[in-house]
Amino acid sequence: MTVANFFDSLDYGPAPESDSNVRAWLAGHDGAFGHFINGRFVAAKKAGTIATIEPATGDKLADTALGTVEDLDDAVKAAAKAQSAWAALGGKARARHLYALARMVQRHGRLFAVLEALDNGKPIRETRDLDVPLVARHFYHHAGWAELQDSELSGFKPIGVIGQIIPWNFPLLMLAWKVAPALALGNTVVLKPAESTPLTALLFAELAARSGLPAGVLNVVTGDGSTGAALVNHQGVGKIAFTGSTDVGRIIRAATAGSGKSLTLELGGKSPFIVFDDADIESAIEGVVDAIWFNQGQVCCAGSRLLVQESIHDRFITRLKERMDTLRVGHPLDKAIDLGAIIDPTQLERIRSLVQKGVEEGAEAYAPAIEMPGNGSFFPPTLLTNVEPASTVAVEEIFGPVMVAMSFRTPDDAVALANNTRYGLAASVWSENISLALDIAPQLKAGVVWVNATNLFDAGVGFGGYRESGFGREGGLEGAYEYLKLNSWESRKPYKPLPPVPAVEATDSFEPMDVDRTAKLYVGGKQVRPDGNYSISIISPKGKIIGEMGEGNRKDIRNAVEAAHKAGSWAGASTHLRAQILYYLGENLSARSHEFAARLSVMTGAKKSDAEKEVSASIDRLFTYAAWADKFDGAVHSPPLRGVALAMNEPIGVAGVICPDEAPLLGFVSLVAPLVAMGNRVVAVPSERYGLIASDFYQVLDTSDMPGGVVNIVTGHAMELATTLADHDGVDVVWAFAGADISKMVEARSVGNMKRTFVDNGLATDWLDPAVGEGRHFLRNAVQVKNIWIPYGE
Ligand code: NAI
Repeated sequence: MTVANFFDSLDYGPAPESDSNVRAWLAGHDGAFGHFINGRFVAAKKAGTIATIEPATGDKLADTALGTVEDLDDAVKAAAKAQSAWAALGGKARARHLYALARMVQRHGRLFAVLEALDNGKPIRETRDLDVPLVARHFYHHAGWAELQDSELSGFKPIGVIGQIIPWNFPLLMLAWKVAPALALGNTVVLKPAESTPLTALLFAELAARSGLPAGVLNVVTGDGSTGAALVNHQGVGKIAFTGSTDVGRIIRAATAGSGKSLTLELGGKSPFIVFDDADIESAIEGVVDAIWFNQGQVCCAGSRLLVQESIHDRFITRLKERMDTLRVGHPLDKAIDLGAIIDPTQLERIRSLVQKGVEEGAEAYAPAIEMPGNGSFFPPTLLTNVEPASTVAVEEIFGPVMVAMSFRTPDDAVALANNTRYGLAASVWSENISLALDIAPQLKAGVVWVNATNLFDAGVGFGGYRESGFGREGGLEGAYEYLKLNSWESRKPYKPLPPVPAVEATDSFEPMDVDRTAKLYVGGKQVRPDGNYSISIISPKGKIIGEMGEGNRKDIRNAVEAAHKAGSWAGASTHLRAQILYYLGENLSARSHEFAARLSVMTGAKKSDAEKEVSASIDRLFTYAAWADKFDGAVHSPPLRGVALAMNEPIGVAGVICPDEAPLLGFVSLVAPLVAMGNRVVAVPSERYGLIASDFYQVLDTSDMPGGVVNIVTGHAMELATTLADHDGVDVVWAFAGADISKMVEARSVGNMKRTFVDNGLATDWLDPAVGEGRHFLRNAVQVKNIWIPYGE
């Protein structure tokens, strides 16, 4: 090409980045890697390797070991041994190590960037300008949390050994998101990278050891899903942090049920990208490029559903196609390309077949006529228009460079379409009308919302999903909590069995009570008869029947869930109003405290003074959460951009609550009140043995202006009712504080809609002790954090 015709075409020439340093590093290891355990590379215990392939060429980069249970035993042992000394170092000393890791990443930035581009197939421009700087930022930020741990996180201790399983789309970045907080807060780690992209994790571990990270603090065991499964099931691991597909997330949730392991899941998405007719169109077009062609669309939070307001739809699509014509697909090490390679032929085939399916279902596919590389796994940037909201491509995560476009008329339509997904990871809203954008953002069911932007990330801003996109947050303070356990909960002991229910005296067995003791259920603000028309006798310790409690069934739970959904406006009620109603509840319970104490005493056999103590603590607890209702605020983060990220504590939705037999009134109040204070609606199953006390509570609710449907009470057999709640897709979270069996069942069966769970795992909670039975820990479990990014400036 001559200079003259170069200026005619303004075409790009190739601008390849050198890979010689990476090749030298691979050659230094003879192209084969063992696991990195206890500060050094070790051979795998059993034969078996996995080749890691360069997606852009199909050539082999290296062989890595296929980790087995034996390898994991060694790694977990090394991590466990290192953990106490690592924790004992203290936050300030650990912070020094994290700073050193951040600087190590920066010093070797180019090596990491090139290796990541080769192993994953993504453009060097992205690994160099996004992945690597963000990795360093994560270590710096979390060095700060280590530094501040003693003062800001003093009520907590590290969990111990953390098992971390990461995917192939951001291999090094996902390592940083998981390893940085875990190490900062005094845990040690066994990391299992994805089978197709293990190399940057191995390089990181090697260089971390060289920068002085003590042996055993970070261990990397390579392998496939079987290795991941063995890590999940390992007894020595206190927590699993997973990023990957929703299907595997479900398997892991079920596998860890009842184990007491803590769990965070960052799963798939089908995120909406909403463009209103007053958006800055050119910016929004560039936004689409970043949303779906960044990392070839292999991004969990990719904006993959383009929703454009009808009045600008055709114009927007025309302009988008023009922009697509200028995109370049090529070798990842070419600095002037926009899209690199797809991870592997299997993923490529999945993308192809989903696009094909979309076309068969009536979509029109557009892909620009641009030059494509000859070999390797490549797929062109693709736009599907004329797509129905229910069609496969509008519903399934494609995880490739494929945008699916639809139109909407009104803001309400936009919200309905955006939320028409089982996922809830991210969303983008484009409008120059800030008032509209900030009205829409809270209505979107997603953990992250970008206003006039997309794919912004920062270590100080939590990231994570709603619904089937998983639970738990990574980054920021909310991410730090995920790697800690409460000191005050450490003293909890297994439940002591209650004395057996005495035999009922055949005749003359009614304890004299002053009201009709045939309690009904409480649904939608009304007392209703149980569907099956059965009741359960409540027997006093003296063997007297003190009343009949309604025996709710599945249908009653379904009705209660429906009533809770109808009371959705509670989520939007002002926090002041929620506080007032909780104060009122407390006052009304106080007015009847003698009556409640007397009933508790008759029912449970508790001493009068103990029963009075329980009622008084229940009143205090209502006041406490009334106080919290308008104070458990979010935060305004200052990520490194011109703008802010608003971390909002949003209610989770409809909560199922299974209450303990111990302290039947206080346990019930301690679980229901924080959920209600935060704007959730509750379907509560009171103590199976002493549920009448919650039935008495109806009248308190009735006289306290609590809107119907916010608190629903279904008495009956706890396991049966809890099972229906755990299975119900209309329930968003279940709190189960009624023993190990129910905890395990709830966690195992929550996988249908990946509902959140908060369970006691068979450890009794001392509800009378405020350090154990109330406070921020409950509130954190009653909300999900949404981060709304708002860049500003002309
Ligand atoms: P995957 O979920 O199977 O793999 C993620 C990680 O989990 C890998 O390290 C893998 O070895 C491990 N793993 C697999 N099975 C496991 C098990 N039973 N127990 C424990 N660990 C296990 O994802 P995959 O197969 O690589 O991709 C399939 C689809 O998943 C993609 O097409 C995409 O739709 C989605 N995906 C979503 C990601 C996200 O960030 N949300 C990341 C990667 C994939």
